[in-house]
Amino acid sequence: MSNVAVIGAGYVGLTTAACLAHIGHNVTCADIDEDRISQLNNGEIPIHEARLPELVQEGLSNQALKFVVGAQRSITTSDFVFLCLPTPQGEDGRADIGAVLDVIEEIRQLVPPQTIIINKSTVPVGTIALIEAAIQREDVSIVSNPEFLREGVAVTDFLQPDRIVIGATSSEVGERVAALYDSIDAPIIAVDPASAETIKYATNSFLATKVSFVNGLAAVCEAVGADIESVTRGLGSDQRIGSRFLQPGPGWGGSCFPKDMQALVRIATDAGYEFDLLRAVIEANDQQFDRIVHKAELLLGEELAGKNLALLGLTFKAHTDDLRNSPALEVAKRLAAKGAKLTAYDPMITSPTELPDDIGVAATIEQAMTGSDLALILTEWPEFTRANWANLIDLMNAPRVVDARNVLDRKSMVELGYQYDDLGRI
Ligand code: UDX
Repeated sequence: MSNVAVIGAGYVGLTTAACLAHIGHNVTCADIDEDRISQLNNGEIPIHEARLPELVQEGLSNQALKFVVGAQRSITTSDFVFLCLPTPQGEDGRADIGAVLDVIEEIRQLVPPQTIIINKSTVPVGTIALIEAAIQREDVSIVSNPEFLREGVAVTDFLQPDRIVIGATSSEVGERVAALYDSIDAPIIAVDPASAETIKYATNSFLATKVSFVNGLAAVCEAVGADIESVTRGLGSDQRIGSRFLQPGPGWGGSCFPKDMQALVRIATDAGYEFDLLRAVIEANDQQFDRIVHKAELLLGEELAGKNLALLGLTFKAHTDDLRNSPALEVAKRLAAKGAKLTAYDPMITSPTELPDDIGVAATIEQAMTGSDLALILTEWPEFTRANWANLIDLMNAPRVVDARNVLDRKSMVELGYQYDDLGRI
């Protein structure tokens, strides 16, 4: 058991704090947001993460986890200090590490000797070296320990990771950090800090590339009369490729992929390499949004202007309430720009305040579909697969569905009388 401070109580910090407490450490989680801290001390969880409420409650009940306002109150009795701070995309595409540097400045003279500061925030390669210079403490170490947590399943990803990456200049320090994870069954990848920082960007960029590849492959399947699900079954069976992240969709989004892709392109350019492949992937993703819009135009057989469209799904993926950089919102923006009238239903989005003015919010699928000239499925909520499409057809002005997540059965939809389009299936 170690005394651990976690600075930042967002998606990553809260999950990290609750999971470290769950595996036996004594954790103090700090944030500057007083309201958030008082919510958390009352066991209220401001983010939608499976299993997180239970773990926070467990930590609060057995006093292995507590929440405080401000970094300084969390570090005085800690052997390890995790930095789980936002590093948003700056104007120029570079990651803005201001929050990380601010906290370092706040704590650098206060952390006890032999403290290990562990950075989990996604930061440009070389940031650990920058922090080491900034902190000016020979008796304090800085380590990179990037996270690979997917929203919606972050707790599972923390407790059952494929690997734990630790970037440390000293193997003894790296081993002390690795020992924090002793009760987690996963290989430790011990590398230097710059390599650990690069692994984070490489992972997200490769995953985004894989998604864009399968989206492009779906377009090829449509053109040659192949079936994308058969193709990805054959493709993914190759151990070198793997079957995950081969699901076609409206494009990738979220708070990480877009930011991390831009950041890696910028990091490479700053270092003298033009990563044109990633630039092409970013462009392909933007084109995927247009492909979905074009599918709606083709199915309507005429202009989108004045047409009533039902959008099923707004979040950037299912099992989250996160709208940040959502592909659904990007498609919606382009549909609205062509004059379509949009009514959306998403099980996690009930208030129009979170949405652009030109998207109406329906409380049910039925309400969204009533009077619609065409429906688009943009997020893979199980509710859309389970819906009674035999009844929904009667609510529409005309039975047209663009299934941009391939969640419905093409044959059944056609038999019900829908004009139906999806991505790369026969
Ligand atoms: C991602 C990484 O997976 C995670 O390891 C990292 O720590 C944070 O960024 P997340 O942003 O939660 O996690 O989303 P993810 O589940 O990776 O999906 C990213 C986007 O790709 C979503 O828009 C999703 O809909 C899309 N996607 C993913 C596909 O379109 N097809 C797929 O097969 C997988």
